[in-house]
Amino acid sequence: MQMNKNGQTVLERRYLIKDEHGQNIETVEGLFRRVADAIAGADTLFDKKADVRALSDQFYDLMTNLEFLPNSPTLMNAGRPLGQLSACFVLPIEDSMEEIFETVKNAALIHKSGGGTGFSFSRLRSAGSTVKTTGGVASGPVSFMRVFNMATEAVKQGGTRRGANMGILRVDHPDILDFIDCKKNNADITNFNISVGITEDFMKAVELGIDYDLVDPHTKEVVGQLSAKEVFDKIVEAAWRNGEPGIIFLDRLNRDNVVPSQGEIESTNPCGEQPLLPFESCNLGSINLCQMLKETDGGWELDYDKLDRTVGLAIHFLDNVIEVNKYPLPIIDEVTKSTRKIGLGVMGFADMLARLGLSYNSDEGVEVGEKVMDFITTRAKAYSQELAKTRGAFPLFAESIFKDEAPLRNATCTTIAPTGTLSIIAGCSSGVEPVFAYVFIRNVMDNTEMIEVNPILRETLEKRGLYSDELMRKIAKEGTLAHIDEIPEDIKKVFVCSHDISPTYHVKMQAAFQRHTDNAVSKTVNFTHDATTLDVREVYMLAYRLDCKGVTIYRDGSRDSQVLNIGSVK
Ligand code: CDP
Repeated sequence: MQMNKNGQTVLERRYLIKDEHGQNIETVEGLFRRVADAIAGADTLFDKKADVRALSDQFYDLMTNLEFLPNSPTLMNAGRPLGQLSACFVLPIEDSMEEIFETVKNAALIHKSGGGTGFSFSRLRSAGSTVKTTGGVASGPVSFMRVFNMATEAVKQGGTRRGANMGILRVDHPDILDFIDCKKNNADITNFNISVGITEDFMKAVELGIDYDLVDPHTKEVVGQLSAKEVFDKIVEAAWRNGEPGIIFLDRLNRDNVVPSQGEIESTNPCGEQPLLPFESCNLGSINLCQMLKETDGGWELDYDKLDRTVGLAIHFLDNVIEVNKYPLPIIDEVTKSTRKIGLGVMGFADMLARLGLSYNSDEGVEVGEKVMDFITTRAKAYSQELAKTRGAFPLFAESIFKDEAPLRNATCTTIAPTGTLSIIAGCSSGVEPVFAYVFIRNVMDNTEMIEVNPILRETLEKRGLYSDELMRKIAKEGTLAHIDEIPEDIKKVFVCSHDISPTYHVKMQAAFQRHTDNAVSKTVNFTHDATTLDVREVYMLAYRLDCKGVTIYRDGSRDSQVLNIGSVK
């Protein structure tokens, strides 16, 4: 296997099966064989004579060649007693003590199994309103978010990662101003990402500069009005301050709700890429685009035949996951199997562009993104239709927006996940994000330095006789290649990192992928530290105009501890 050291380390520390003393009792190859066998086994449910061994070999090769990886819970739990394989869940929060705490419990069970949960708090009555049974005063959505946050703090996901949540509040909820500021203090509600659920009516009011209505979630009566522009500015200011809240466009999630008869989509999973109905879950998987290239006499190009074969196998894999998955609750089993949503996405996109000699921040780069994702979604749909011929369409197909088309096995096929861990395992850039930094200097235990260089940059510089440790240290220190005189312009143009790219291009790329993705796109728009609230506002408006489903921004240095730092030691 061609796995680099970081990938190996992540698997060894967190994914391989351990004995009671914490010693690994599985090898990396053993992990991939365990997963391949467990997932391929589902074929016998549809065909008793299916050649499971041959399929397992294909899945094994797919993963060990780092061409495709399923989301972390599948790698951790497939073929093991727990058997919970999905990364994404949405749970309902109804407005009663019983139901709120039932959901706290269910979320804990999901976190324990390695999944992340999203919730809409919009149905909860506002702080200060009366509680009928006791005559007391309601605490409101934000205070219940703190309860969920504490519960999450106490439960580690499968003992390997901290639970992740998404909290959403509709912009017309009376407590919206409290919600916007609830993460003002960086130490608060740390196990949640939060997003304001924006409506089209609200956006129109922003554009017209007029007030909009606040609605009581119970009575549906208008209980107040706020200036849309002022609320929008507050959201922007808070996001500028420390990256939260993000926004999601609720009406767009519901425009693409494939089975509207099942109710409204009110929330997404923790990182925002997967809108789901209450009690619905979804398993994800990502194709490593770096492995979809071929070298020809004229240089590197995308190998569409290979990509096509990979999409076919990946769709087969993800549909099988739904069968062998052990769901945390019977109702999640039932709801998930009624639509059979899966989310195939990509990673290594920025690395692929570099190989092709294209800049992320160019119209050509954006076009390639759009073309690749168009191809993947079109082929994914075709393969899902193929599966439907032998396995049947998803049960709610006749009620879905596709009812007049060829039957589909899966109500949605594509999603762009962040691939936080998968991209480390595969040794490529994450999701559709640009490369954050091409060179890192790592301090290893005995205080010696280890220089980590993006393999494509290394190869490019070596070919031109430009590679040296000294130059790498310089790049690591600067964080970018942009201002280093020794590096030729053509290389600088291609090896752009997150902060060399204007927020506008970040959003353009997100929009290009969104146009051809069934679900949503996980993307963070990076700003430099000196960006203004006006810059952030423009990006929010641009994302709205370009039909994105949401936006998340992050301004460098706006939190004391951030995951990635420019020009510093990891
Ligand atoms: O790379 P990996 O499969 O580990 O995950 P990802 O692509 O970074 O995240 C995909 C989804 O996994 C997120 O949107 C969450 O739903 C879930 N997740 C989680 O529950 N807890 C985490 N610590 C990270 C991700």
